[in-house]
Amino acid sequence: MLFQKNTDSLVIQTPAKLNLFLEILGQRDDGFHELETLMVSVSLYDTLTFQKGVKNKIHLHCNDASQNLNKERSSIETIPNDEKNLIVQAARLLQKETGVLEGVCMTLQKRIPAAAGLAGGSSDAAATLVGLNKFWKLGLGEKELWRLASKLGSDVPFFLASSPIAVCRGRGEIIEPVTFSGQGHFVIARPQSGLSTAEVFQHYHQEKQALPRSVEPLLNTLKKGTFSNTGQHFYNALQTPARLLNGEVKQLGNLLEKQPIEGHLMSGSGSACFGLCSSRRQANKIANVLRSQGIPQTFAVSISI
Ligand code: C5P
Repeated sequence: MLFQKNTDSLVIQTPAKLNLFLEILGQRDDGFHELETLMVSVSLYDTLTFQKGVKNKIHLHCNDASQNLNKERSSIETIPNDEKNLIVQAARLLQKETGVLEGVCMTLQKRIPAAAGLAGGSSDAAATLVGLNKFWKLGLGEKELWRLASKLGSDVPFFLASSPIAVCRGRGEIIEPVTFSGQGHFVIARPQSGLSTAEVFQHYHQEKQALPRSVEPLLNTLKKGTFSNTGQHFYNALQTPARLLNGEVKQLGNLLEKQPIEGHLMSGSGSACFGLCSSRRQANKIANVLRSQGIPQTFAVSISI
């Protein structure tokens, strides 16, 4: 998360995330799945601006950069301006929990594609908690923000962590930061259609007698301070159900397979996939190749600081 404080506004750049590893350890009584996942925040950002609002009123205006690229959108791909948006839910939650009477006027410049497994909505929600905590001078501490973030969604707490790489467990809300000072470059591509997280989880079936995979081999490779050789440890248990639900995910995987990259995988519950590149230059080059092959929502990114 990157902050810029102006005289009468606060601007936050909210990063996307990639899951380089995601294993499902079982289904819980509350219907959620127990996860072990490694998440990395990357330099594809939405921009969220906070300005003074009318007392008690939460106002959100969204500009969606991908609107013209994807005209036939389903409801899960449309960015709402109202209570359905996690940003508005986060602001309301803060009002309810702290009793603050101030309002706010927020503008969202959306660049992270929705229904893509990149957690754009969760990142925006985390930025709303952190941003309004500053903007409304609420003085909430880390623990309190984490509690509110976990109420909003499983991926929201990750974006509160100070480290751009973390292993996330539980529903995804228990965060263990990973120390890493190197750089990493990726190309992200999002097919024309998205996927619903709930639907992908519903279609997940554990392979019979398969022991769960562990994130440890990936972590051990990362300890060398580079992403080189990590591609062999990329794994996402949700990739099979996502490919069955959306044929474009498989097609995109086939396309990435043909590129001279070090590994590729679907992120989260999809439908976006990413490839690990050796440099920013290579990421840009592959992004251009994918665009020329008919995938306009393609981004070259690095680890977000
Ligand atoms: O927590 P979040 O609102 O992002 O989750 C969306 C949906 O994804 C949940 O309603 C649930 O169906 C599924 N999910 C799950 N296990 C998780 C995270 C999400 O089953 N650990």
